[in-house]
Amino acid sequence: QTIFVLNGPNLNMLGKREPGIYGGKTLKDIEADCKAAGRELGFDIDFRQSNHEGTLVDWFHEADEKAAGVAVNAGAYTHTSVALHDAIRAISVPVIELHISNVHAREEFRHKSMIAPACKGVICGFGPHSYILALHALKNITA
Ligand code: DQA
Repeated sequence: QTIFVLNGPNLNMLGKREPGIYGGKTLKDIEADCKAAGRELGFDIDFRQSNHEGTLVDWFHEADEKAAGVAVNAGAYTHTSVALHDAIRAISVPVIELHISNVHAREEFRHKSMIAPACKGVICGFGPHSYILALHALKNITA
């Protein structure tokens, strides 16, 4: 089973981007951790990042053809994107929203997720381990 792990804007900057909030791991480190967890769970992990909203939309559509589920950290598009909401609604594979930080403990504008109502569930606040928790959740719902 293939799982898409999709990352939105600025997540390519992890490691040097606000390490007090996001920690010191790079996105490459997180990809390696996801692939290791994937091997344990029996998932092939297709791990991607884009700073472009439309590319993320395309990847959701592609996931509907190729993946058993999607874990997405949509970055700031979480809080703004009707297009991502609609893309998630348009596909039939389960999508889990995740965040490294606890968005509810941060600025008010991060409290609202445009995509959460279209997702199966939301995981946030566990640092990079949020990715691993999302993979376990997908294992549970795709089994
Ligand atoms: C984030 C939280 C978002 O509010 C922010 O825009 C990000 C990262 C997180 O993983 O904590 O880019 O999705």
